[in-house]
Amino acid sequence: MRVIPSGSACGARVEGIDLAAPLDRATVAEIRAAWLEHRVLAFADQSMDDDALERFTLALGGFGEDPFFAPIEGREHIAAIVREADETTPLFAENWHSDWSFLAEPPAGTCLLAIEVPPVGGDTLFADQHAAWEALPAARKRELEGLTAIHSAKLAYAPDGTYGARDTGRSMAIRPSEAANATQTHPLVRAHPETGRKGFFSTLGYIVGIAGMADAEAFALLRELAQWQSREEFVYRHRWEPDMLIVWDNRAVLHRATGGYEGRRRELHRTTIAARRG
Ligand code: SIN
Repeated sequence: MRVIPSGSACGARVEGIDLAAPLDRATVAEIRAAWLEHRVLAFADQSMDDDALERFTLALGGFGEDPFFAPIEGREHIAAIVREADETTPLFAENWHSDWSFLAEPPAGTCLLAIEVPPVGGDTLFADQHAAWEALPAARKRELEGLTAIHSAKLAYAPDGTYGARDTGRSMAIRPSEAANATQTHPLVRAHPETGRKGFFSTLGYIVGIAGMADAEAFALLRELAQWQSREEFVYRHRWEPDMLIVWDNRAVLHRATGGYEGRRRELHRTTIAARRG
């Protein structure tokens, strides 16, 4: 297995491994170590089907919860991130986020397998939240450390949210619900549960407030931080290739989708990796 760093703040390309073949413990440990080191891994030249995607997800930590998505037919844990060639809805997941950060136990990671990727456009961007935190002046870190972020899915998945009742004509199987109005707190800055490295966890969008802070002040702070968290120097631009699987660490990076493939179809199969317990 060859791991080639992207040269950006995070991300590496992995070659010389067949993820459709059975993975022994040593290989899984090697993949996990590379994943924790680079936060985003892109495995090139794979010939994986949905069974292989499920096996890989189980090997990395097991299936996480996937609220607000219906799975693809015949599978409980695979969702399709799909956009038809003639679709005109706003892009899915175009804002920076950490997957499902509003859950009590957000997923450790996410896998995306290329089913059909356009020849140009449709890149996925990743922003390294360890780098974003570490680049802050010590005084600013002292002001932010200890703040508690209030997370919610409401802006996206509530019936009046971005993917709610007014979002018509979308091919993805999104299932908005009143449950999206629930809130959950997490530290704004926290140590990665496996590496111990500090970083921002999630961002404005899924973060809807700061505990003990008035909304106007909290939103101003979250807006300012969101700009900082996604600065160019923290970003890795992932360019898709056919037969590619990527896996990222939601505890360490933000991500977002991009467009630029009008008139082309794009489909990826997605699984989430459960939080690690103990
Ligand atoms: C996602 O956030 O799961 C989708 C990312 C993408 O479509 O590039």
